[in-house]
Amino acid sequence: MAKVALITGGSRGIGAATARKLASEGYLIGLNYIKNKVAATQLSDELNKDRKRCVLLQGDVSQESDVLRIFEELDETFGPLTHLVNNAAILQPQTKLVDMDANRINRVLSTNVTSAFLCCREAVKRMVNGGAIVNVSSAAARIGAPHEYIDYAASKAAVDTLTKGLALEVADRGIRVNGVRPGFIYTDMHADGGEPGRVDRMKENIPLKRGGQPEEIAAAIAWLLSDDASYVTGSILDAAGGR
Ligand SMILES: NC(=O)c1ccc[n+]([C@@H]2O[C@H](COP(=O)([O-])OP(=O)(O)OC[C@H]3O[C@@H](n4cnc5c(N)ncnc54)[C@H](OP(=O)(O)O)[C@@H]3O)[C@@H](O)[C@H]2O)c1
Repeated sequence: MAKVALITGGSRGIGAATARKLASEGYLIGLNYIKNKVAATQLSDELNKDRKRCVLLQGDVSQESDVLRIFEELDETFGPLTHLVNNAAILQPQTKLVDMDANRINRVLSTNVTSAFLCCREAVKRMVNGGAIVNVSSAAARIGAPHEYIDYAASKAAVDTLTKGLALEVADRGIRVNGVRPGFIYTDMHADGGEPGRVDRMKENIPLKRGGQPEEIAAAIAWLLSDDASYVTGSILDAAGGR
């Protein structure tokens, strides 16, 4: 049976590395992005070089109507999905809670949490013969990200609870649900948070004394999706250099 994976937020960073990794393992890829059409198209062209294995799925995964359309487009192209990577998320500029307004907090929660709920729901409906889901969380869920992004950290803690609860809810249907908690990874996300050099600033505080590469997170995601992890569900794998 074909392995069909949707990766949300696949145009850059960890999502793009995951798309490359899964494509190299024979998956058909639904590659979601929201605005960076150039980067998403470049990656899709790369993955489709010798045969069609990737479809671009533009849409805002915090919006229910977009999620429904994304899944329908994927159904039409490759058939029902068998694997899901909930990866899309945002960081807002670093600040303390006293300076956060409801608009910011709701934007972070809807992009990072509502999206994962909606995509899990649509995925589970389609996984009639079992399947696997990986939710990308963050070490921030354990640490809390004080003075920087408590809202983001709290959103990732919610993702961890979704992972645990859904894993138990669908285990008897042969659907595995796991999470990965990256630490400081070299991607453009930190520039969105206002500090492009954040990983290098923090690396002395990481036991392995370095930031991580997106490919190192993609490898953890791919393992959790694979049959090699067939007895793993409801687990959250820290990939944070020991932090
Ligand atoms: N980088 C780190 O150090 C780190 C650490 C811990 C956890 N993580 C987690 O790892 C995941 C990937 O992080 P990253 O650093 O690779 O992020 P990134 O480079 O900022 O990429 C984010 C991706 O999400 C997409 N996106 C954002 N909002 C979206 C929405 N509403 N709907 C659909 N797509 C949306 C972006 O699309 P466009 O390009 O089209 O805007 C982009 O493809 C996230 O869940 C993040 O929280 C990252």
